[in-house]
Amino acid sequence: MIAMMLSSAIASLVACIATYRAPSSSVAAPASHYKFRLIHAMNVYSVPPGAAAATAGGRASPFHQWSAIESIRRAMRYAPPDMRVDFVCAVFESDRAALLGDDLPCRTVSLTRSTRTEYHFIEDAKELPFIQDIIDAATAQDEERGNVEYFLVLTNSDIGLTKYFYRALMPHLRMREAVSINRLAVSAEAIDVATADDGETLLSRVDSALEDADDHGGYDCFIIHSSVLPRIRIGDMFAGYPPWGNVMHRLLKLVADNYTNVKSNVNGTFHIGDDRTAWKNDDWSEDELASYLEFEELVHFSTIDDMANQRTMSPKSASLILEHATAAVVKPKCPWGRGNNVYRWVNDLNCAIGLQYNRYHDNRTIPRFIQPGFEGYCKGACNPWLI
Ligand SMILES: *[C@@H]1O[C@H](CO)[C@@H](O)[C@H](O)[C@H]1NC(C)=O
Ligand SMILES: *[C@@H]1O[C@H](CO)[C@@H](O)[C@H](O)[C@H]1NC(C)=O
Ligand SMILES: *[C@@H]1O[C@H](CO)[C@@H](O)[C@H](O)[C@H]1NC(C)=O
Repeated sequence: MIAMMLSSAIASLVACIATYRAPSSSVAAPASHYKFRLIHAMNVYSVPPGAAAATAGGRASPFHQWSAIESIRRAMRYAPPDMRVDFVCAVFESDRAALLGDDLPCRTVSLTRSTRTEYHFIEDAKELPFIQDIIDAATAQDEERGNVEYFLVLTNSDIGLTKYFYRALMPHLRMREAVSINRLAVSAEAIDVATADDGETLLSRVDSALEDADDHGGYDCFIIHSSVLPRIRIGDMFAGYPPWGNVMHRLLKLVADNYTNVKSNVNGTFHIGDDRTAWKNDDWSEDELASYLEFEELVHFSTIDDMANQRTMSPKSASLILEHATAAVVKPKCPWGRGNNVYRWVNDLNCAIGLQYNRYHDNRTIPRFIQPGFEGYCKGACNPWLI
């Protein structure tokens, strides 16, 4: 009797071991091979403790950036098994020490330039990163190692990912070289920013607020296959102000296979609050703008017709330029000089520079943003602002 009980106990123990082993051996069988590798890059910067944008927890990250990082941390946990995400924080050298305490869940790479180091004519300039610098820093290690198969994900510092972001991305990646995703604008009141000071609280509030969030048309999240990156260089456009997102969108339409823009949705990205009005706060006076134009001596118009072609320019800005500029180089392809915001002006100018120096190939006009040797990828008229 005891022998029988013992043998049945042993039998069930053996069965138990057998069922336990089955899944682990099937998981271990093939060498781990990830079909989709993502390098997710964002600029991460610090704000002084006590700054208006600071989070409650004494972190160096401003609230919007902290919430974006928390959301990426979670989305990575929910990424599909055949996707590996290499989260890269591109940080200014000057911010590195301050960010050490922030427990960043990413590989950090360095940015050596910013609008502060490059544009001395802007007094006490903001420290904004150049988009191409972020791309180059985030992909440098893979360039060196000759890893050619990956997608680069580029999001602004204040753009959050919903829980299933990476999962929802998969079907697109199987058939495209590039994707952009518009964000949902989640109401700041629904999040109650002042009391959302741990990641879990924040993200559960975001999840509940997504259904009622508003669509937003801006471009602030791109996914680009590594083979597309050598085809383009976005020049000196920097983050935080238009028109870099729009230019990137139009460039990808020209040079990336099956590129598509995915409209705002609950499995995409989010932004807390609607910051569309925030740019207005940086207005310069006309005098300041005029002295900037003289300083740069880059904005030049030869005729009134050139001015008339600037469909987006207000008469006020037009007369300002006519009064202060000396020769004509600007093509009417980039948005130009809207408002008195110096960052917008400089970024519009950076956009124009890539179009000013366009070249001809097979009787087509090719913007400088498309790299030599890749003209063949350029579809149609090849003018990003006419497609
Ligand atoms: C683009 O879409 C077509 C048709 O669906 C498909 O055959 C092709 O492989 C796609 N290109 C890429 C790069 O996935
Ligand atoms: C979002 O993703 C989840 C999980 O994959 C899925 O169940 C749901 O249907 C998706 N919703 C939309 C609107 O795509
Ligand atoms: C470019 O245009 C010229 C004149 O219109 C034409 O003779 C020439 O064949 C064109 N070249 C190409 C590569 O299409």
